[in-house]
Amino acid sequence: MTSHQDLDSQKKAAALQAVEYVRDGMVVGLGTGSTAKHMVIALGEKVRAGMQLRGVPTSQETAVLARQSGITLIDTDNRWEIDVAIDGADQVDPGFNLVKGGGGALLKEKIVAGSAKLFIVLVDQTKQVPVLGGSFPLPIEVIPFGWGSTAREIEALTKSRVVLRQRNGAPFKTEAGNLIVDVHLARIDRPRDLEIALNQIPGIVETGLFVGRTDILIVGRPQGVETLHASKG
Ligand code: A5P
Repeated sequence: MTSHQDLDSQKKAAALQAVEYVRDGMVVGLGTGSTAKHMVIALGEKVRAGMQLRGVPTSQETAVLARQSGITLIDTDNRWEIDVAIDGADQVDPGFNLVKGGGGALLKEKIVAGSAKLFIVLVDQTKQVPVLGGSFPLPIEVIPFGWGSTAREIEALTKSRVVLRQRNGAPFKTEAGNLIVDVHLARIDRPRDLEIALNQIPGIVETGLFVGRTDILIVGRPQGVETLHASKG
């Protein structure tokens, strides 16, 4: 069995590979989570070595780490041009579709990934699955108003158990002040169709399905890092 430390080394190796795509002067979308953390630290080292770059953080946690690492952050209330976004994922299927949102940052992550010219995803090999779903529930960000009714509609659509995410005995709140429901789907055979159908339900802000967005997948494995390019179109 792979130890936590081994997995962390695989995440770090993937992150070190990803930052090689960052060039001087770029604006970089900074993901959230234990894998993205290695990438932010590695970018900080590049800044210390003289590289000019600016970051767009996908969470407060990432913003704090980026500042500590010496990365200048851009004003996120204005229009931006992101050259490359780099982020982790909770699951990735053979078509490079993702489930994200384990850390609750899926909304900003999707906005940043969606507006980047290049989206690089970093995973350790345990995140690769033949089909999305199963062991990892699909996170969905919902408006607090009428969330129970939204959850009922999600249940009716997916025929799956929907659980309101809790933290420290209270509903988990996202940075946008919304709630997260985790949907326990046995398998997501058609992620694009599911994403489209979920987006029709009033009250859903965003889903953790990232379909057709990945350009490059970097997988950390015990024997080394594998870089895979998505065929789009
Ligand atoms: C944050 O909301 C998530 O989308 C993360 O990107 C995802 O959970 C991956 O996190 P780890 O790199 O910590 O596994």
